[in-house]
Amino acid sequence: MKAVLIERHGGSEVLEYVDVELQDPAPGEVTVRQTAIGVNFSDINVRRGGFYLNNQSNFPLCLGNEAAGVVVKVGPGPTAFNEGDRVAYAGSGGLFFENTGAYVEMRNIPSTCLVKLPDDIPDQVAAAMLLKGLTASVVINRNYKPKPYDPFLIHAAASGVGSILAQWSRHLGARVVGTVGSPEKAEFARAHGCDETILYRSEDFVHRCRQLVPDGVAAVFDGVGADTFLRSFDCARPFAALVNYGNASGPVPAFNIMMLAQKGCFASQTRLRIPCRYA
Ligand SMILES: NC(=O)c1ccc[n+]([C@@H]2O[C@H](COP(=O)([O-])OP(=O)(O)OC[C@H]3O[C@@H](n4cnc5c(N)ncnc54)[C@H](OP(=O)(O)O)[C@@H]3O)[C@@H](O)[C@H]2O)c1
Repeated sequence: MKAVLIERHGGSEVLEYVDVELQDPAPGEVTVRQTAIGVNFSDINVRRGGFYLNNQSNFPLCLGNEAAGVVVKVGPGPTAFNEGDRVAYAGSGGLFFENTGAYVEMRNIPSTCLVKLPDDIPDQVAAAMLLKGLTASVVINRNYKPKPYDPFLIHAAASGVGSILAQWSRHLGARVVGTVGSPEKAEFARAHGCDETILYRSEDFVHRCRQLVPDGVAAVFDGVGADTFLRSFDCARPFAALVNYGNASGPVPAFNIMMLAQKGCFASQTRLRIPCRYA
């Protein structure tokens, strides 16, 4: 079968389409024939040996954390899954940057990491939204839940996670201002939850956000990090929540906690844990 592997860190040129073999599933595992895989920004971070990696990767490395498909073999031991089940997963048990391996036609995966797919959710939809949707769920259900009429600032509102956050926040009644990198993304973001958009590469997003929401936003959802997080304090109203969930432009610089005292703001950083055991 085919897989996409990397033998070294780098740009997309390091991706190689190669033949690989698959062992039988171990106890507790099933073999999934993958019909769709999800691509995430974290794949890029892992591919280029980015800031999430503390240790040297074991090459060859198969990227990816997310896919949907069909169970084709069940390993020894009890499991809730049978051959023919349609399934999806977001992660395979460890930290997402340590336990990759979705860029492949078939893989063995612990059955505890799988969810069964209802008939009305296509494989492509499940593979594209499970990880991003769970991340949005953590942000909204664990960090800050939008309230009706709350003005919100969502950075990179046309991104995978950002566009789900924007739609979810709007669904809960918030007024959503989204930053985006291009006019095409602005159009997409307005069709997916944003009331207003700011082209943050060509206009000062703080100035524009204060024009749109003079009293300041109730919360900021930020997956961009270095370029946006600290400046977003100037968009916030007193007691606002600033949630950083990603670092597409690089990690948020260290800051003095006394900075929060100016407005009594809350700042948090969050990460999806898979399996999602928060209790
Ligand atoms: N905390 C968690 O557990 C968790 C889980 C999933 C994802 N994440 C993080 O959430 C963020 C979004 O993930 P995603 O998969 O939804 O991303 P995505 O769809 O690939 O979108 C990332 C977007 O970030 C924006 N961006 C701003 N500065 C950038 C830069 N210097 N380089 C590249 N992109 C830049 C770009 O949008 P514009 O062109 O509009 O600026 C880009 O399209 C990422 O930082 C990711 O690592 C975190």
